[in-house]
Amino acid sequence: MERRGFLKSAASTAAALVFGRHGALAQQASSHIEILVDEPIATIAPEIYGHFTEHLGSVIYDGIYVGEDSKIPNQQGLRSALIDKMRIIKAPVVRWPGGCFADSYDWRDGIGPKDKRPRHTNFWVDDFKPEQKKQNIPQIYDPNSFGTDDFVRFCKLSGAEPYIAANVRSLPALEFDHWVEYCNSPRGTTTLAETRAAAGSPDPYNVRYWGVGNESWGCGGNFDPEDYAVEFKRYTTWVPSYGVGLRFIASGPNSDEQFWTRRFFEKLYRGQPGNDGRGVWGLSIHHYDMNVTRNKSSDWQGKGEALSFDLTEWYESVKESDRMEGIILEHWNALGEWDVTHKIKLVVDEYGPWYLKGTEYAPEELYSQAITMRDALVTGLTLDTFNRQAEKVGMAACAQLINCLNALFMSHEDKFTATPVFNVFELYAAHQGATALRTEFSAPEIHYDRDGKPATVWGLKGSASLKAKTLTLTAVNPDTSQPREAEIVLRGASAVSSKAFVVAESDIHAHNILGQPEQVKTRAAEVAVRPGSLSFTFPPASVVKIEALLS
Ligand code: AHR
Repeated sequence: MERRGFLKSAASTAAALVFGRHGALAQQASSHIEILVDEPIATIAPEIYGHFTEHLGSVIYDGIYVGEDSKIPNQQGLRSALIDKMRIIKAPVVRWPGGCFADSYDWRDGIGPKDKRPRHTNFWVDDFKPEQKKQNIPQIYDPNSFGTDDFVRFCKLSGAEPYIAANVRSLPALEFDHWVEYCNSPRGTTTLAETRAAAGSPDPYNVRYWGVGNESWGCGGNFDPEDYAVEFKRYTTWVPSYGVGLRFIASGPNSDEQFWTRRFFEKLYRGQPGNDGRGVWGLSIHHYDMNVTRNKSSDWQGKGEALSFDLTEWYESVKESDRMEGIILEHWNALGEWDVTHKIKLVVDEYGPWYLKGTEYAPEELYSQAITMRDALVTGLTLDTFNRQAEKVGMAACAQLINCLNALFMSHEDKFTATPVFNVFELYAAHQGATALRTEFSAPEIHYDRDGKPATVWGLKGSASLKAKTLTLTAVNPDTSQPREAEIVLRGASAVSSKAFVVAESDIHAHNILGQPEQVKTRAAEVAVRPGSLSFTFPPASVVKIEALLS
């Protein structure tokens, strides 16, 4: 039997006996991981670890922007505590201003003296209750005090690159040219460069990443893929590059809707497959994990509760998030029918769980939801998926950074805390720019009850990468009661030392609460080092990073 076939078949055996480094039977660990150090996949683009910020609820106002006159520690109005944390996770890229908001946003409203900027109704106004709409608050009536300059400043202070999503639904293509000109035209060359200089930046921002609309199949214009292809060409053809090397991201499919990818590219390529990318650097994909209640909820597609979930919903969340790998592969194949040399990358610029309302800290924090250990786990497995598909995924953005769906942070006025999703991004930062390695997992499957019927889910999965002599393995054990004792074979290498970092709590509902000490912590743990292998026990319901220094 072939080595991989052997490993795969071992997965179905509760306690498999597997070979050690030299073919000898190893300890009878229940689980086995084999890292094929000499089988690189591709470099993991640091941008896979990106973030998303939209003028939605309290993401911008209160979350990122507290105002220049605020008593909350800030740098030119930007929340200092958030900036400090962004540096810890090495945030590579931040997407803004939406989301659906992007296709209703006029970038000119957000430049120039702040006291002269217009106030406009936010795209999300009708998601607020009628009595809330009477309040003149920035979450509903946007004062535009946070605009392009503030966003780019936030990115620079955070160490990230800006990724701007342009308005295709309600602004003309020329306005897109002018936004690029505002950001990128050299100092002193254009009226817009002078306006930028007056805002404190004579030098260009050199914004490379530009989204051409957002969800153009829905809130971004309800286009058909062919119609959007026409718009894409109009918006992107001959936009001055200012020597920056613009990277256009086309609005892509919703989740697994392959028809969008196929028909968009068929139109763009005029029915003739080719290898020149046709002006597309990346194809955006959005996938939210929603249907965890097996359609029992009457809300949009069967969303579940953020905090009060049972074991079945825990495992269903794992499966929902795990759909990401299939979605990536399907769209990659559909894309390859037209982009025959795979020049274009996939950009998963919105992902994460989306639950029912009810756990937001304050009413204006639209779509803010409690973030528990479950969210840490599914974020870990999604990031592992991106690592495993490193040659296909060029960028990703977790939706959204603060006070929102799968937020890394929560804030309310002077209170601020990281969530368990932050702990995961902190662990996984080590993968950025490393070489993804082919890695095989075999572990006992988990059995659970799905509305009276038996169901299963895999027992251990992850990804590995190598940067110089540092090997990083990350993995999640979704089993809520059983640890996974694993032998980790380093095929083609040996470690001189190793350590582990674990995000796990005995309560799977554990979450951090504003103003209280953090409940979810990252803890260091010992790893046993043997010639050619490591041994570690992955605790129940855990996200783990193992670092090993190779000889
Ligand atoms: O992240 C919230 C919303 O979800 C975004 O605005 C939109 O693009 C998606 O539907």
